[in-house]
Amino acid sequence: MTDCASIPEISSSSIAKRRVALASDHAGFALKAEIREHLRARGFDVNDFGAHGAESVDYPAYAAAVARAVRDVNGAFECGVLVCGTGLGMSIAANKFSGIRCAVCSEPYSARLARQHNNANILALGARVVGIDMAKDIVDAYLNARFELRHQRRLDQIKELERAESCGSSV
Ligand code: RB5
Repeated sequence: MTDCASIPEISSSSIAKRRVALASDHAGFALKAEIREHLRARGFDVNDFGAHGAESVDYPAYAAAVARAVRDVNGAFECGVLVCGTGLGMSIAANKFSGIRCAVCSEPYSARLARQHNNANILALGARVVGIDMAKDIVDAYLNARFELRHQRRLDQIKELERAESCGSSV
């Protein structure tokens, strides 16, 4: 249960090896496999939370698994990557979790800024929107970028919106 008075910031201080939480639904299943191997080839630890086949599944459960992993596991995961048909359903579901900032990106520029400006802790991709090579470029741009602290003030404001909404008060 979240204490309304304080929503803790997700810590990344205990990260040793760079570790990514990954999931998709059926529409993103094939692209997820490509991304998983790409990340492992780059030296990342990848936890694949499913889906484990191409049969039709519902994306909210997979978004939730990655959102919880990124939010809860003591900073063990640097970030998450979610893949569905458009990236939209996954991002909408993931953003229901307090402290999660999930950005859908279809090109590398937005992916880089999603981290530099928004400190997005989950990247969402649309397998019906981007091809494999573009998806890898997007993932690389996102993972190679670093948050710029000068944007912290706006993230604090988002956190305050989250806190106020969860307490039923208005900002
Ligand atoms: C599944 O058909 C599709 O709706 C899903 O993958 C995703 O694109 C939803 O936003």
